[in-house]
Amino acid sequence: MANLEGKVALITGAASGIGRESATRMATDGATVMCGDMDMAGAENTANIIIQQGGRAAALELDVSEEAAVRAAIYETAETFGSLNVIFNNAGIGGGGIAWDKTISINLSGVYYGLFHGAAFMADHGGGAIINTASIAGLVGLFGPQSSELDAEILPGAGAYVAAKHGVAGLTKQYAVTYGNRGVRVNAIAPGYIETPMTAEARELPGGVEFLESLHPMGRLGQPEEIAAAASFLASDDASFITGVILPVDGGYTAR
Ligand SMILES: NC(=O)c1ccc[n+]([C@@H]2O[C@H](COP(=O)([O-])OP(=O)(O)OC[C@H]3O[C@@H](n4cnc5c(N)ncnc54)[C@H](O)[C@@H]3O)[C@@H](O)[C@H]2O)c1
Repeated sequence: MANLEGKVALITGAASGIGRESATRMATDGATVMCGDMDMAGAENTANIIIQQGGRAAALELDVSEEAAVRAAIYETAETFGSLNVIFNNAGIGGGGIAWDKTISINLSGVYYGLFHGAAFMADHGGGAIINTASIAGLVGLFGPQSSELDAEILPGAGAYVAAKHGVAGLTKQYAVTYGNRGVRVNAIAPGYIETPMTAEARELPGGVEFLESLHPMGRLGQPEEIAAAASFLASDDASFITGVILPVDGGYTAR
């Protein structure tokens, strides 16, 4: 287990899926967690799970596509808990639909605001670790089964999603370089297909699960707990010499 004792973490997208599992995992590993999400009821739910398990947590409402809200969340977390050592820029929306502007504003600009304000804050307050959720779509293009129904669900909007996630990978490297000698480590996780609400529609289509599983050499989808474990490690001092990495947690998806 990663040791996050004494650390304060702000996690976006903490109401669901990867964000919720990462919040509870980091709390189990000793962190105090601010659960941020535009779904306030869900964020409070996650915070309550942590508190019921004996941890320390609170929730705040934020839309990561609003720069002022992201900046405010960073300062509110530090004021509430006395410090801020970890930021997990995880909130995001799926690749379905063709909403270019919306996808870019949440999946790319939202991460940028967290990096821009978060790295500067941490550099001025003793350093820290930032983790971004990229995707296999931040490393390679997405591939459909080339059958009408599944492609219709999986591939429309893939361009915006892939562009945003490649952007997250680029931002991760740039901020790692810029802040390398200022005490702030910056890494990203590139999940394969994970069983969260985001992938529910694609999984529910006929043949959906089988197709998605076939993309991963391990022959299965990932669980949000497996992303949370990587996030907690990258947040911890066990990763003290790791920065600028885009870590695939993808059952081998990008290995072929
Ligand atoms: N599930 C996968 O297969 C998969 C694969 C690769 C990457 N990802 C990435 O992982 C991250 C988390 O996805 P998930 O699978 O847990 O999805 P999810 O839908 O379960 O959770 C996403 C959370 O983000 C929140 N959110 C969405 N827009 C927001 C905004 N503008 N401001 C604040 N919060 C917002 C939602 O309310 C939700 O709680 C996303 O960045 C996603 O792109 C997911």
